[in-house]
Amino acid sequence: MVSVTAELLKETDPPVPFYNNGDKTSFAHKSAAERWPVIIAQVVDDVHRRLAALDDEKDAEAIAEGQKIITQVDKLKYDESRDRPLTRLDESFGDDITAYNEELALLQSPSWFNVPWLYSECYLYRTLRTFFSHTRHWQSHDPFLRSKDSTFRSSRRAVVELAVRYEKLVDELKTHPYAEMSERARRLLWLEMAQISLWGNATDLSLLTSLSYDDLQKLQGAEAIAKSQENIISNDLESAWSALKDVQGGRIDLVLDNAGFELFADLVLATYLLETGHADHVILHPKDIPWFVSDVTPADVAHLFSALASHTTYFGGGGKDENAVEDAKGAAAMDHLVGRWTELYADGRIVIRPHPFWTTAHPFGRLGKLAPELVDDLKESDLVVFKGDLNYRKLVGDAVWPPETSFKTAIGSLAQLPLRVLALRTCKADVCVGLQPGIAESLDDKHGRLTWRTNGKFAVVQYHDGK
Ligand code: F6P
Ligand code: MG
Repeated sequence: MVSVTAELLKETDPPVPFYNNGDKTSFAHKSAAERWPVIIAQVVDDVHRRLAALDDEKDAEAIAEGQKIITQVDKLKYDESRDRPLTRLDESFGDDITAYNEELALLQSPSWFNVPWLYSECYLYRTLRTFFSHTRHWQSHDPFLRSKDSTFRSSRRAVVELAVRYEKLVDELKTHPYAEMSERARRLLWLEMAQISLWGNATDLSLLTSLSYDDLQKLQGAEAIAKSQENIISNDLESAWSALKDVQGGRIDLVLDNAGFELFADLVLATYLLETGHADHVILHPKDIPWFVSDVTPADVAHLFSALASHTTYFGGGGKDENAVEDAKGAAAMDHLVGRWTELYADGRIVIRPHPFWTTAHPFGRLGKLAPELVDDLKESDLVVFKGDLNYRKLVGDAVWPPETSFKTAIGSLAQLPLRVLALRTCKADVCVGLQPGIAESLDDKHGRLTWRTNGKFAVVQYHDGK
């Protein structure tokens, strides 16, 4: 395995500093100071809840292990909030730990509020996993499952709406085959589908349009889509379309972000790519351990399928608006979608392919040096779509780039690889590149510097064609 050395990082990492938890004006600081203690406390709470359901006698070993996990997590919370040094992780916990320790040594024993945000946040989630992975009874326990699940249950309205909308599109494709659609209508359809996946990463989906086949052919369709794109402050969807429109029967990769509604929206994008024939197969890249609270693991994909397969029971008692899923149209649309996904998965046209690289602390500029076999795999793809905020931070190295820096410059050595890279990201962190001069300043004035960068109401869609 290639070691993480100062020479290697000089070659692969951005020439400007990383965002650092020590910068009190940054969102990095805010999240380390305010958000992480809450997240860590949620893990403790989750373990307590599970312990409460165990039997003192029968489950004595599981109880002892659970109590040990709580002690370890509490200590992590104490160390983090008291700005103690980050310590080496036990390398017997996995092959990926060596790189964490090598980078920690290069950072010269940093403390929690004097360390790059990206490294320390990944280190936090990786450390949490070590507490579970070496137990007998808790190794497959996902302490975030409960919150992922309840968030998904509460998004049932959006799920139904999107399922109905997709069903309508499929029906329309039956009467108006894709091959006969005008180039313009196809382009608008791409813009709509890509935005479903993009805004699936946000909390606010109000910016989405819902267009029929006729709308796509008409000016109103273009107007609605243009309006919905107003909050995309850097938008390369058209350039991505220039490449995608000529891809027939290709391979498209989605480097996933969150479980639940976002995964649902990403599957809609995948299905559109398959049904229209642009893709012959779509590869989904989930995380192989619980990560950043809401990220997708392979178990979450299975969970989504089974939740939708019994949607009436699953969503039924979970919210205020019980009529929504009782609605026959909504139910039929969900049945249709999950049936289609199960078929596509069984036929090997939707493939789930985790890789340990996605849960390292590495910015993606290091991909070529540190995960060459993953690069070899991704090279086979016609388009690699990176979803969400964390993937974006890793793409651009989570560095203090001036916002006018081009996406190509910010992705550094990744731009040298023969990959087509498309980032679909709603803004939830400090870093932002690819903006026209003056845009960041006017957003700062109008909304406040941290607000527009982090509230998930603005987005960037950035594309680089390395092929
Ligand atoms: O804002 C805190 C944070 O955990 C960031 O560190 C991270 O980039 C983001 O939330 C997660 O967002 P997403 O799920 O879109 O990657
Ligand atoms: Mg996430």
